[in-house]
Amino acid sequence: MLQDRYGNNLATSSSQARDLYVEAVDKLLGAGPGMRAAFEAVTAADPGFALGHCGLARACQITGDVVAARASMATARSLAGGLSTKDASHLNALGLLIDGKGAAAYPAIRQHVGEYPRDVMIAQICTSVFGLIGFSGKPGREAELLAYTTSLQPHYGDDWWFLSQHAFSLCETGILDRADQMIDRALAIKPDNAHGAHVRAHIYYEAGEAQAGMDYLHGWLPGYDRHGLMHSHISWHLALWTLGQGDMDGVWSLVDRYIAPDASLSFPLIVMTDNAAILYRAALAGHPVPVERWQAIADYAHRYFPNTGVAFADVHAALAYAMVGESDALAEIVANPAGPAADVVRELASAFQSIIDQDWPGAAAHLATGMADHARIGGSRAQRDLLEHTMVAVLLKQGQGDEARRMLAMRRPVQAGKAPVAGL
Ligand SMILES: [Fe+2]
Repeated sequence: MLQDRYGNNLATSSSQARDLYVEAVDKLLGAGPGMRAAFEAVTAADPGFALGHCGLARACQITGDVVAARASMATARSLAGGLSTKDASHLNALGLLIDGKGAAAYPAIRQHVGEYPRDVMIAQICTSVFGLIGFSGKPGREAELLAYTTSLQPHYGDDWWFLSQHAFSLCETGILDRADQMIDRALAIKPDNAHGAHVRAHIYYEAGEAQAGMDYLHGWLPGYDRHGLMHSHISWHLALWTLGQGDMDGVWSLVDRYIAPDASLSFPLIVMTDNAAILYRAALAGHPVPVERWQAIADYAHRYFPNTGVAFADVHAALAYAMVGESDALAEIVANPAGPAADVVRELASAFQSIIDQDWPGAAAHLATGMADHARIGGSRAQRDLLEHTMVAVLLKQGQGDEARRMLAMRRPVQAGKAPVAGL
């Protein structure tokens, strides 16, 4: 029987479909450009290959096309007759996810991965900053992600995808030396792995090695097709370091070419959050930010995140609404946050309301409550430094510079003395 790169049997007799499937899976695992087209080629080569349609469904979902994802999943289900127990389980677990039944999908996926750990298309759903664990909204989810990728280690060993994902889990729990070794190995095996390059950037960030990070991305990014899933977000990482150097021409150039809503080719969650974050971090650093830039983000939030429920998006939408004075939209998030991290969203959105009211003690109080476990909103430590820097700015507004420096030294020592916040 034909097998994929991980030794999983594939229910196709077409060696062309198999070869295309291996290529498409690698594109998905490495955020290569054209992952959707790659899976479409698989389904064209063998329209009866159910897992090809599953892969296409997952590629569509990742790139934000839920309608197409559900259509491909329906095709996969129509081909379910005669599938192996393993493939039927694959279909069930992925189907729950594509149907938007995340609460039921997570245990089904964990059970499947427990039985078939090398079924990478299911295993990868729980990994990374954007995965099911990352966006679970639960306390302890960074440790849970580390425990999860650790459990995969005996099954993947020296695999480039696994190494880059485990490196990220290690990075986000502060185990930087092992993360560093692992990502170097992952990128040595597959240098064009964009998720790996992204993790490499995070490790430089957490180590406080801004110049090394910039040098790395200036070397790596030009070789990455801007249609790749991570191009916009990796550009955001470069923009953060560029901001740290005070090079605003460089920041706006990156924003306008790759990050802004009318320039980014990434999925809505990235576009929404990265834009709000870079604008506010620029403002916190003391640089003027034209209101038109904020309005574009607020408009984008209305369009792509009209209802609360994705905490990471909701917090950034609240920030954008605050910055353009859309107090009704902001009040709606405060009044009706949804999802497992709704309590944190309410506090952080309330903090932004207090900030535009110039109620600095109120802002500090809301931030303090929300930041007690802000990992629950999702995103990376680097992304949530937006909140750390906001708290610094709020304390500075009250003349509490010593407190601001103490807080940073305690919570984010790598940022101590370096955080680009005006007046620190
Ligand atoms: Fe990132």
